[in-house]
Order: sequence, then structure tokens, then C-alpha cells
Amino acid sequence: MSEPSVTLTDAATSKSVALPVVSGTLGDPALDIGKLNKETGYFTYDPGFVSTASTRSAITYIDGDQGILLYRGYPIEQLAKQSSFLEVAYLLINGELPNGEQFRSFEHEVAHHTMMHESLKNFLNGFHYDAHPMAMLCGSVASLSAFYHDTLDMNDPEQRRLAAIRLIAKIPTIAAAAYRYGIGWPFRYPRNNLEYVTRFLHMMFEVPSEPLELNPVVAKALDLLFILHADHEQNASTSTVRLVGSTGANPYACVSAGIAALWGPAHGGANEAVLKMLEEIGDAKNVASAVAKAKDKNSGFRLMGFGHRVYKNFDPRATIIREMTHKVLADLNVSDPLLDVAVALEEVALKDPYFIERKLYPNVDFYSGIIYKALKIPTEMFTVMFAIARTAGWVAHWLEQHVTPDAKIGRPRQIYTGAAQRDYVPVSKR
Ligand code: CMC
Repeated sequence: MSEPSVTLTDAATSKSVALPVVSGTLGDPALDIGKLNKETGYFTYDPGFVSTASTRSAITYIDGDQGILLYRGYPIEQLAKQSSFLEVAYLLINGELPNGEQFRSFEHEVAHHTMMHESLKNFLNGFHYDAHPMAMLCGSVASLSAFYHDTLDMNDPEQRRLAAIRLIAKIPTIAAAAYRYGIGWPFRYPRNNLEYVTRFLHMMFEVPSEPLELNPVVAKALDLLFILHADHEQNASTSTVRLVGSTGANPYACVSAGIAALWGPAHGGANEAVLKMLEEIGDAKNVASAVAKAKDKNSGFRLMGFGHRVYKNFDPRATIIREMTHKVLADLNVSDPLLDVAVALEEVALKDPYFIERKLYPNVDFYSGIIYKALKIPTEMFTVMFAIARTAGWVAHWLEQHVTPDAKIGRPRQIYTGAAQRDYVPVSKR
């Protein structure tokens, strides 16, 4: 039987080309257009990669119409209920859930890489007093390559694995330091006897003068948020990590680039933008005018936390977070008027033909900010929280990329729209 293919015929020249069909285990098949230009002289044009798969990957699967999200085959709902963030990180990186011994060894190894080099503190202390923590994270993570240049042989699987562990272990330490720098608190060393999320919360909130009384609801909620944010296949930041990784750049540079991509309000920066938007709306009675403004293309305003490139029915993470928001606020005995604004906004938007026709639903970022706020995480740290969690996905993709047989340097083409060739005119004649 011949390999499946789709034949494309150029109506102008009647020339045909057979494009091989590439299928994965789940999801729509793709056309392999690798030889298209050589055989036909055409490129493909797909701004934003709406119809383009950039790689094969066995890590995460999304079905946007059905609202399905699987990490290594496991539904996000099951992982959210039964797993922990660190176990999910192991799963994303290694492909299988760990047994007890494998998990203990992973946890132990991560715990023993949590310290940051003392010199990194000088670097952090050099930032302007009001630096955004995402700027500090981005710069500091890139600087890690200067501390570990003796283990940057990317052809060595053990050095790659070690770099992945270091990133998962150190990013929470740097993130907490970035927060503390902004408020003038001394940096806190990681306490390795604590589990991953609790250790991070201690680094964030413990002051030297008194022990931290941590409500277990806070650690549980943050762990769950981290699970939901851990990976999302070829999103903008992960694609950035892979693009930079495709050049052979070191993993600290790649992840720093991923952090930069995540920061944008269309991506991970949306959680911070949602909270600011809800604060601006201020009251449920102002929701109708906010929705009207979001529909007006001239306003330049979009409902933050709404819409998704892939989910066109519902975002399963948003469903979990919505339920969790009500529970966490009740458990912590917090009443937040912004939650009423969010509920009213969701209700109005979901009934509005503009949002229905365009299949715009709340995404993962719509409610997460309200939970972060209830956990006393300051607004400018929201995207940092996302970055801590997404590091698991970034390093899993970066590791996978290094063992993908047909991996190539990423190098998109373009449709050139500039001036045709012309001669230089000396300044005296212009
Ligand atoms: N509010 C109002 N209109 C919207 C919104 C929104 N949030 N999102 C999309 N639209 C409209 C858009 O104007 C366009 O309308 P038309 O067809 O009339 O031109 C249509 O819906 C399709 O939008 P698009 O921009 O072509 O869709 P996209 O897939 O390129 O963008 C998105 C996806 C997430 C960037 C976009 O929906 C958006 O800007 N949402 C707000 C920001 C946000 O919440 N981002 C977080 C995404 S989820 C977490 C993450 O990835 O980090």
C-alpha cells in the first residue's frame, strides 16, 4: 500500500506535487511540505502558525474542540486531582509517572540544586529598586549559563539532564529573591526539608524574625495552579524555547527567551492584565460597558483572560480554576469583590453573540489572578508564577528536541514586500 499523500495541482501550470500525510497518535493529520519549495517554487504563508505544526512531540496533546488536555496521555483533570506539580514535572520530562523510589530520588535531586550561587545575589542587587520581577527573572535565568559553563556540552545527555534539573530547582529561588528585592527583604535560602511548593512559599514570605505559619490550603492551591500551567504543547513561549534551542544555544539562554515570550499580555502576562482589568471595571454594574468596549475594534481593548488559539469550546484548565477559585476563597475565608466582577463578566460575555460567534471563552488566566491574590501573591508576580510552572514544560520540550531525529535549525521564510533592487543614491543627490 502506498504512503498516504495529498496531491496539490497548480492550476496555472497543471504541475502536481504529492505531499506526504504525517499522522500522530491523536489529532488531525498534517501535510509534509518540507520539499514543496524545491518541487514547486512555492512557499506556504501562515502568519501566527495557525495551520502549521513545527515539530513532532510526545509530551502534551490538546483537542481544542473537545476541551481536552493530556500530559503524556494523562487527562489534566486526573492529574489536578491526584498528582503533584513535581510529579507532573517528572512525567513531562521522562514520559512516565515515577514509582515511589524514582520520585524520591527526583525530589531529592531537585532539592539539592535549589541554592543560587552567592554571586547571583550581586547580579539581582544590581537591578533598579522598582524592577519588574519578570525582568529580573529573565535576566537572572540567562545569567545562569555564566555560572555553569563547565556543564554546557549539549551533546552530553547527562549534562542536558542536569541543566533541566537546575532550572526546575533554581527558578523558584530566583523568583522569590526577585520579589523580596522589590520589597526590601533579605533573600531567603531554600529549606530542602520542605516539598517544592512549600519551600517556594517559605522563600517568598518567611521573614528572619519569625517563623512562617503557612496555611496548607495555600500550598495545595499553588501546587494545583502549577500543575495546570506546567505545559501546553507548542505555545508561544515553548516554541520560543525550541527555536532558540534549535540553534544549539544553552538551556539557560533558551528558557530565558521563553520567559521573555511568556511575559507578553497575549500569553502569560494575561493573568496580571486580567486582575488590572477587573480592578478597572471595579463593579458588576460596569461589566456591560466593558464588554461593549471589548467588541469595539477601535477601542484597542480586549477582554483579558478570554479567547484561545486552540480551545474553541472551553479551556479545561479554566473549568478547574473556576471551581477552585470559589473553594479557595471559601477555605481561606476571603471575600473578594473582584470575584463578583469576574463572574458577572463571564456571564455577560458568554451570552453575547460577538463572543459566541468567535468561540471566545475564559482561558486559564481568567480566574488564576483572583486565586493568586487570595494567596497574597502580588500582582506583578502572577506571570512569574506561570514561569515557575511552565519551566517544567520548557525543559521537557528542550530535552525532547535534542533527541528528535529530524530536528533542524528553525528558520521560517517570508513574503518580501519591500522595495525591489535599486541603486544607492549619494546623500548630495537625495
Ligand atoms: N476580547 C475581544 N475580542 C477578542 C478577544 C478578546 N479577548 N480575543 C479574540 N478576539 C476577537 C478578535 O478581535 C478577532 O475578531 P475578528 O474575527 O472580528 O477580527 C477574533 O476574536 C479572533 O481573534 P484572534 O486574535 O485572531 O485570535 P488568536 O487565536 O490569534 O488569539 C489570543 C488568541 C489568546 C491571543 C486572543 O484571544 C487574546 O488576545 N486574548 C486576550 C489575552 C489572553 O487572555 N491571553 C491568554 C491566552 S491563554 C494563556 C496563555 O497562552 O498564556
